[in-house]
Amino acid sequence: MTVRHPRERHGHSRDLQINPIFSREPLTVPRYALPERQMEPDTAYQIVHDELMLDGNARQNLATFVSTWAEPQARRLMDECAEKNMIDKDEYPQTAELESRCVHMLARLWHAEDPRHVIGCSTTGSSEAAMLGGLALKRRWQHRRRAEGASTARPNLVMGVNVQICWEKFADYFEVEPRYVPMEGDRYHLTPDKAVELCDENTIGVVAVLGSTFDGSYEPVAGIAAALDDLQARTGLDIPVHVDAASGGMIAPFLDPDLVWDFRLPRVASINTSGHKYGLVMPGVGWALWRDQDALPEDLVFHVNYLGGDMPTFALNFSRPGAQVVAQYYTFLRLGFEGYRRVQQTCRDVATRLAAKIAELGPFELITDGSELPVFAFRVRQDIDRFSVFDVSAALRERGWLVPAYTFPENRTDLAVLRIVVRNGFSHDLADLLLDDLRRVLPRLEDQRAPRHSAADCAGFSHGTEPKKVRRGVHA
Ligand SMILES: Cc1ncc(COP(=O)(O)O)c(C=O)c1O
Repeated sequence: MTVRHPRERHGHSRDLQINPIFSREPLTVPRYALPERQMEPDTAYQIVHDELMLDGNARQNLATFVSTWAEPQARRLMDECAEKNMIDKDEYPQTAELESRCVHMLARLWHAEDPRHVIGCSTTGSSEAAMLGGLALKRRWQHRRRAEGASTARPNLVMGVNVQICWEKFADYFEVEPRYVPMEGDRYHLTPDKAVELCDENTIGVVAVLGSTFDGSYEPVAGIAAALDDLQARTGLDIPVHVDAASGGMIAPFLDPDLVWDFRLPRVASINTSGHKYGLVMPGVGWALWRDQDALPEDLVFHVNYLGGDMPTFALNFSRPGAQVVAQYYTFLRLGFEGYRRVQQTCRDVATRLAAKIAELGPFELITDGSELPVFAFRVRQDIDRFSVFDVSAALRERGWLVPAYTFPENRTDLAVLRIVVRNGFSHDLADLLLDDLRRVLPRLEDQRAPRHSAADCAGFSHGTEPKKVRRGVHA
């Protein structure tokens, strides 16, 4: 990849100037080259610390799904484990043991028929977990096709166009044709009939998302599974489902126990979640689980020596920090089912109340109301032409709030929305402060003659809702 040198882009040609309090001689260090000599640790610390002051305030980031707060005890454990490499299961057997306990806890939470036989692992996040889930689907399909003497040249994966960018990456990196079901009218995610329409003998699987990144809505996983059961009965095609439960995997079990979306559905082969989203751990940890050995072909699994024994691994990285896995175990232990339920219920209460208050303001219309994921999207009413969602996003940014605005994908590229992700720590009080700021900027926006900002001004923090790339070549 060619990246233009930042100096060219911003004209920052000066070296870094060191505060004279730290040195007798005037001192500068190059900005983009390795300094020639060492410096005192406190001086280096201060330089880095000062520069980072310009980063946004993570707690006001309503764009991200990722945890921006952890208890001091979790942070202490992370510090204590900073040097532990997850792959060194031999040196850190207890860290490996805690990882395995987390997998078993998730297997039970997601109603695995036999939790002891579920296979799973930690990952750097849901993106890596999605790659692993997708690879397992592809490999299973290849084995089946080869056994039938059929071609394995053109695998495809069926999903809604609302999938997070990680699925587009999976398809691109691992040469699988992505078959996106477009949005239509008020349908903003995958539905059973549309999923089945795109399936054929080359379909490696269907991805169902439990809660859409675009608007927080749950896709009808059980309905999709039932439609695929019916497809199998009619045609013999047996197509597995992977559930991308990046956020919903840690919401639905606590708040929607009657919603059947997980291993209770025999068609669900694998599930991923982000430990660092509603799993309440700092970035980056994710989880991938397969219902049984059949769902994860053995030839994808590598074996490392573990305490003189055999430790299977399935991962894209080799080295990876153990601290987040330990923090995940701490959080499971600390909160238990009831603790998670209370935290997630509070998020849902804040989201639904804030959504209702925003709807009452007048110029906005809700797309979702925060009652599935504690996430909601809203638009500016169609009859309002003086300001756009992009103006609202820019105005809120003046007070430090990061509320992303973006357009929906095909076939609703005409629809631009704002989205708020309510996470642990975004309280009713903070929501009221955001509402006050929104109320304050509205008269100014209503005084504009025409919108001042466009999608281009707001790109960059929509968290995986970027438009899908136009593809070329065989996988187009
Ligand atoms: C549905 C969904 N899948 C996958 C991802 C990627 O997750 P991660 O950031 O953990 O890689 C996201 C991130 O927002 C998401 O919302």
